[in-house]
Amino acid sequence: PQRVFSGVQPTGNLHLGNYLGAITRFVALQDDYDCIYCVVDMHAITQAVSVWGGPEELTKSTREVTAAFIASGIDPEKHIVFNQSQVAEHAELAWVFNCVARMGWLNRMTQFKEKAGKHRENASVGLFAYPNLMAADILVYRATHVPVGEDQKQHLELARDIAQKFNTDFADSIRRVSGEDEFFPLPEPLIQGPATRVMSLRDGTKKMSKSDPSDYSRINLTDDADTIAQKIRKAKTDPEPLPGEEDGLEPRPEAANLVGIYAALADRSKADVLAEFGGAQFSTFKTALADLSVAKLAPIASEMRRLRDDPGYIDSVLERGAGQARDIAGPVMRNVKDIIGFLR
Ligand code: TYM
Repeated sequence: PQRVFSGVQPTGNLHLGNYLGAITRFVALQDDYDCIYCVVDMHAITQAVSVWGGPEELTKSTREVTAAFIASGIDPEKHIVFNQSQVAEHAELAWVFNCVARMGWLNRMTQFKEKAGKHRENASVGLFAYPNLMAADILVYRATHVPVGEDQKQHLELARDIAQKFNTDFADSIRRVSGEDEFFPLPEPLIQGPATRVMSLRDGTKKMSKSDPSDYSRINLTDDADTIAQKIRKAKTDPEPLPGEEDGLEPRPEAANLVGIYAALADRSKADVLAEFGGAQFSTFKTALADLSVAKLAPIASEMRRLRDDPGYIDSVLERGAGQARDIAGPVMRNVKDIIGFLR
């Protein structure tokens, strides 16, 4: 059986990168797969408390990401939506994976190096071990497909390495316990569409991110129409008109980024967008992009505001989703225990 799993951290505001690189892809997969979409609150606490904002902020952000999922079109009646900390099996399997993954594998993770910065001695152990928890998130459901943005590719490769090592280390036991040759599938990343890496609006060589100090670098899902239009108007560009073909975007990161955003929002290819706007000045293109962004994002923001006033509904979605998630993760974890030889 094919199963999709993905997660989003409840830290700060969701931005256009999260929306185009991940959430719209989650929505698109609902027709073809059984999907599990998780608000990964245990990942959020890997950074300093001052970064994720403390208990009240975490609770609020967890509800906000859930609201964004629903407002964007994820159907919690047909698929599973929950927050990670409600399903203890994630942490349980993560411990096993802490003992499967090698230090050397984690030492290569570029996101750890970026997030830990210069003072690596001060980073939490959780931030270092984070990719093991991410592997557990996916594999505790034996998920086969994982839609993510480009920046998660290396973590997905690690998850595959962990699955593979577990399968080989315990091959005999796996055959005895489950009768299978491989216990964990090697999860496949789905990194698709024209906006797998949305860049900062201020610098086309930097990823759009929650942690950029400039709010003008990103469009937040909750920005109002005026703010969106102003951020696009002020977005960095070069002086040339838009090229007619995709090759022409190659040396122009800011242009490539805006065209990619347009294509993703309009559900068209970049080539198609350039066929329309090739030769146009940025002033013209930016107006069209601002209109399109507002048309697509405003309804989501307003639905999120409506859901914000109904935390009881959000919490009930998460509670029900957590129950459904446990029904899948529980039996997998019991198998894992038998495979390892833990008495239960
Ligand atoms: P997070 O919370 O940083 O981001 C959520 C999703 O948004 C994507 N994304 C982007 N896509 C395109 N352009 C950007 N500028 C951009 N910024 C973020 C991310 O690739 C991600 O898909 N470790 C994950 C969360 C996670 C997870 C998992 C994902 C935890 N467990 C299991 C998949 C499966 C993270 O920090 O994503």
